[in-house]
Amino acid sequence: MSHSTNKPLRVLSGMRPTGRLHLGHYKGVLQNWLQLQEQHQCFFFAADWHALTTDYANPAIVKQTIWDMLIDWLAVGIDPEKSVIFIQSAVPEHAELHLLFSFMTPLSWLERVPTYKDQISELREKDLGTYGFLGYPLLQSADILMYLADAVPVGEDQVPHVELTREIARRFNHLYREPGQPLFPEPQPLLMPASKLPGLDGRKMSKSYGNTIELAETWKVTEKKIKTMPTDPARIRRTDAGTPELCPVWDYHKIYSSEEERKELDQGCRNAGIGCLDCKKVLLQHIEEELQPIRDRRVAIAAREDDLRDIIRKGNEQARLQAGRTMEKVRKALQMGYRV
Ligand code: TRP
Ligand code: SF4
Repeated sequence: MSHSTNKPLRVLSGMRPTGRLHLGHYKGVLQNWLQLQEQHQCFFFAADWHALTTDYANPAIVKQTIWDMLIDWLAVGIDPEKSVIFIQSAVPEHAELHLLFSFMTPLSWLERVPTYKDQISELREKDLGTYGFLGYPLLQSADILMYLADAVPVGEDQVPHVELTREIARRFNHLYREPGQPLFPEPQPLLMPASKLPGLDGRKMSKSYGNTIELAETWKVTEKKIKTMPTDPARIRRTDAGTPELCPVWDYHKIYSSEEERKELDQGCRNAGIGCLDCKKVLLQHIEEELQPIRDRRVAIAAREDDLRDIIRKGNEQARLQAGRTMEKVRKALQMGYRV
């Protein structure tokens, strides 16, 4: 689905507060959200209940990271005037909808979601043989359908969850609504291309590899990380020629530097006309230009805690308003009009 259709879509996406955000999140996810909020009605939420499906034994992680994550969103420009920004657990309707969906969802639909078995074997140190973990994608379906979303920006691994959501929407509409009168639209995944920005060591940028640049760290820390980044191992001495394609720094230049700069650096690398530090200096300047304003805003937002809480409180209220409307229709469809 194209991002630039003229008709505004209802877009919803969530992120689990499980750690500090890094440049990979910014390049891969947040920049995408920033674009979407310019044209569409967006709902962005902190999926704190989802974090508990895997980190139930350590709820402190959520508490430690949720506000940092929200500050990061605001600092990069997710705008509460344009988007509804909220916390999942502040809208308990998500739990109600999840429950009601659970009655009509065949177990086999959940068991065959690819992330289910993958994650259980990948995260062996956590016991994920739980009821809640099996239901994770169904909770996600509730998140999405609650806001009658048309489009869900997700990475490739999450596409099956949106597919499941489409099936849930269809099943609900079929069971509880007249033909031609669906309550839930079938949402489309908006596939976000994986971030092309690798980690400092050339592997995927990920907290678990310890190769990230965090949005919240100081410039001194970032500078040191980049200065000590590995380069083409052939360049042992300053006079050794190198090959940019064999260097993780080069992947950063492909994202941050102009074609002109790259041409010059490429030559300098190949004929040992420049040292790696010279090459990195060009990069450092671009990254600083990008990150410094974000970090300044971060500090300013974090310093006004009351304003921040007001922003999120307002987002929570907006989300609950919409959730309340949807749940009224859902209860009606389930003939729960006997409730007084
Ligand atoms: N499962 C998503 C992830 O791990 C987070 C998420 C929860 C989500 N609910 C959502 C994403 C609804 C999109 C829509 O990244
Ligand atoms: Fe990498 Fe640049 Fe050094 Fe070449 S000059 S090896 S591209 S850091």
